[in-house]
Amino acid sequence: MRTSTFFSSALFAATALAHGNITSPPARQPGAAMAQICGNAAVSAILADGTGPLENIQSNGAVDCNIFLCKGAQFADNQNLVQQFQAGEVVDFAAQLPIPHEGPANVSIIDTASNTVIGNPLIEFDSYADENLAVLPPNNTAFSVQMPADLGGACEVAGECVMQWFWFGTAALQTYENCVDFVMV
Ligand SMILES: *[C@@H]1O[C@H](CO)[C@@H](O)[C@H](O)[C@H]1NC(C)=O
Ligand SMILES: *[C@@H]1O[C@H](CO)[C@@H](O)[C@H](O)[C@H]1NC(C)=O
Ligand SMILES: *[C@@H]1O[C@H](CO)[C@@H](O)[C@H](O)[C@H]1NC(C)=O
Repeated sequence: MRTSTFFSSALFAATALAHGNITSPPARQPGAAMAQICGNAAVSAILADGTGPLENIQSNGAVDCNIFLCKGAQFADNQNLVQQFQAGEVVDFAAQLPIPHEGPANVSIIDTASNTVIGNPLIEFDSYADENLAVLPPNNTAFSVQMPADLGGACEVAGECVMQWFWFGTAALQTYENCVDFVMV
């Protein structure tokens, strides 16, 4: 009984589309530059399900393709989505979580050239998207972060930094990411 329940839910998780993504602010989308760097299969996987985990995105193995940075989505495909924020500004996020998987989550500022975190996470959830709850806490799908007071001159050039939403489903062993391109003005 236990085994068959586990098996059918595992099968469901493997085949079901839609797990979660950021819907606002606008997040990086795949495009021609990504196809050139990561291959068409990676782009197709995201177009087929924009809420799917990184583990479902097949990289072409190229050195410049890093699926674990923004799902492999490139700044060059998203230059019209760059947000402008001021020091200390509060930024509202909206997420959709059609298929939740419990685990830690956070939003951090990432230096895209080095794929390193700048400063502290802007928000952290020890337990996010817990499918065992009857209703998810409202802050899982609507939350706010505050931009740092001083980024020391970082993130003033478009493409240099993203705000990265990161969520790891502990039991599902699946990673979800979306990146918001921004500049500090
Ligand atoms: C979120 O997922 C939906 C459904 O697949 C997709 O239409 C949308 O483009 C995705 N958004 C992002 C930022 O990936
Ligand atoms: C965000 O959460 C993930 C999963 O726990 C973790 O690996 C990552 O280090 C966290 N990021 C930061 C900046 O703390
Ligand atoms: C989200 O809401 C839950 C339930 O109210 C709360 O326990 C948790 O601390 C909140 N997390 C964040 C990061 O605000």
